[in-house]
Amino acid sequence: MRIVQITDLHVGREGEDTYGVDVRANFLKVLDAARQKRPHYLVLSGDLCYRDGDPRIYEWIFEQMEGLDIPYDILSGNHDDPVMMAEAFGRSHLLKEGELYYSKIFSGRPVLFLDTTTGIVSEAQQEWLRGQLKGLKQEAMIFMHHPPLEAGVPFMDSRHALRNRGEVQSIFLAHPFNVNVFTGHYHVEKVIRKKNIVVHITPSCFFQIGQDSEEFQVDHYRIGLREIHWDNGVMMNAVHYLNGVTHR
Ligand SMILES: [Fe+2]
Repeated sequence: MRIVQITDLHVGREGEDTYGVDVRANFLKVLDAARQKRPHYLVLSGDLCYRDGDPRIYEWIFEQMEGLDIPYDILSGNHDDPVMMAEAFGRSHLLKEGELYYSKIFSGRPVLFLDTTTGIVSEAQQEWLRGQLKGLKQEAMIFMHHPPLEAGVPFMDSRHALRNRGEVQSIFLAHPFNVNVFTGHYHVEKVIRKKNIVVHITPSCFFQIGQDSEEFQVDHYRIGLREIHWDNGVMMNAVHYLNGVTHR
């Protein structure tokens, strides 16, 4: 199966200044590149909105996605509202106590989608996750907005990391198979492994963040998407970059 992951769109309200970046044009560019990969599934892994959830932003993104004719799934990031998002995308039935976490079958394989909007994986969600992994007698594929491991990006690790990552790691470490995690949030491209946990961080559609600095710094304005092929036990992963559209 072929999956394309797109993350951290940060679409603003109509006419809103977003650091001089044309985030809507960027998203459309990435979406067009995604379509050309002819994926079986598409995942938008959070931070669809620039600063906070807005139904009109979700509706605009929904319209672009519906025009694609590719099945897709959505995650809520720290700049989203999971309830508003689920409503705009017609997925309110997936909400549990206001959180948007669920599992889907992709080409016969269960894939898990977590909700880290609040910067943690809630107790209820941890319980659900344990149950899901218990029933899974194979490698896991998980999409979540925040990386569950520190990534060696000082600005993000020190200020914006998943706060209860230790608890989440314990759940993943208890799985007797590999746990392949795909995230966004950090606005970098990186792979981090700890024992059976492999975390792939996908670059943003907005801008990328400096990987060596304690302070916020833009690294560059190229934008990316991740392509994942998973067939016959072989997982191939590639990140593709495009030039971002800026008014700078
Ligand atoms: Fe984020």
